[in-house]
Amino acid sequence: MQDYKNPKLILESSALEPGKFTWQSPSNLAIIKYWGKHGRQLPQNPSISFTLNSAVTQTQIEYKQREEAGHGVSLEFFFHGEPKPEFGEKQKKFLESILDIFPFLNQMDLTIRSGNSFPHSSGIASSASSMSALALCLCSIEDKLFGTLSDDEAFDRKASYVARLGSGSACRSVYGTMALWGKFGEVEGSDDTVAIPMEDHVHPLFKTFHDDILIVSKSEKSVSSRAGHGLMEQNPFAAPRYQQANQRLHELLPALRQGDLETFGRITENEALSLHALMMTSNPSYILMQPNTLEMINRLRAFREDTGHPVYFSLDAGPNLHVLYPEDAIHAIRPFIEEELVPLCEEDAWLPDWVGEGPEEL
Ligand code: DP6
Repeated sequence: MQDYKNPKLILESSALEPGKFTWQSPSNLAIIKYWGKHGRQLPQNPSISFTLNSAVTQTQIEYKQREEAGHGVSLEFFFHGEPKPEFGEKQKKFLESILDIFPFLNQMDLTIRSGNSFPHSSGIASSASSMSALALCLCSIEDKLFGTLSDDEAFDRKASYVARLGSGSACRSVYGTMALWGKFGEVEGSDDTVAIPMEDHVHPLFKTFHDDILIVSKSEKSVSSRAGHGLMEQNPFAAPRYQQANQRLHELLPALRQGDLETFGRITENEALSLHALMMTSNPSYILMQPNTLEMINRLRAFREDTGHPVYFSLDAGPNLHVLYPEDAIHAIRPFIEEELVPLCEEDAWLPDWVGEGPEEL
């Protein structure tokens, strides 16, 4: 396991030239879910996700020589152009927690400007896109000042490592198409500390897959992912769950290679429901699905049964439904979504999305 602690990344001269970097990074949807962690953000089971295209965060970090020496990180934070102290505090704490990796952050005055392509209140998770965008900016600064990450592979790997420390699922957003996070014997190079790209392991069918996000509720979720992971420690189903995730990944990988939609769809839906079953069997128990989530699932399954079209659903840790289907089925699926599912959304809100190529430096 690589350890990125590096006390050498300290600026020697006090004449730092100011600079800035901007990255856009996407959200992702896990097919095999990460739910349960240990140690410093290490997963209890391997997970694999689609990297999305349209649900993205743009983050810019501006840095200059620190004017007043002090403890901790000097940070100003703006979200969609407005100061946002509660987000800023979180980012500051995170940056302080990784000073052993980027000690030079202590020598700078930092300004972070961040914004999402999707409304903050849409219920779409933003930690994966925001933490990956932040990690990418930090690696760009390191490379600019120390020339240590000129190799693209090394750059992405470190970005994935740092993103994971910010939010587990964020480590997968560093790579386009699909990414796998967590040690899995059948995949060479897989690792608990970083995600690895899976683009070369998937059938072309999945590289243009659609993932339309149907917003059942815009409200903030009642139990955070962080707390949800914590509840897994006492969940009586935890051990069999981690085993199940490994077994499903074993079945899913050949299906992804071969373009086997039926197996993909079955596993994807089972994973989504298993995730929510774990929430319901936690102590205290909680339910994030809403009546309209279930109604949408029933309609989608009935439509699939009636028409035979390959359309499947997934869920994140929230009530919103992800509707998954291959590009060549769009003409049949889109009218179904618009007529039967969108009316069940809060204020008809939905976000058409699809598999994307990963982060981009702007
Ligand atoms: C249900 O990555 O948001 O989306 O590591 O505590 O930040 P933290 O949790 P987070 O959990 C994501 C859980 C999930 C499944 C997944 O993305 O694999």
